[in-house]
Amino acid sequence: MVLMIICVCNALNCKSVRAAVEAGANSPKAVQAHHGCRFQCGKCRPSIGEMIAETANDRGPSPSLVAAE
Ligand code: FES
Repeated sequence: MVLMIICVCNALNCKSVRAAVEAGANSPKAVQAHHGCRFQCGKCRPSIGEMIAETANDRGPSPSLVAAE
């Protein structure tokens, strides 16, 4: 299995980012905090944000966003 490095500064790969998101991290900062890290250069913010959005899309719409009938 090939793991893509998402955050070079803190050596976070795609698996570790996904684990943080599945544990409830809902922002790039929360993903870093989940692993006891802080942003250094911040270049990974967009990538982490995309992974959070992809996970949210996989889960489907939030119950609060479902249209009432
Ligand atoms: S790549 Fe993540 S803080 Fe630099």
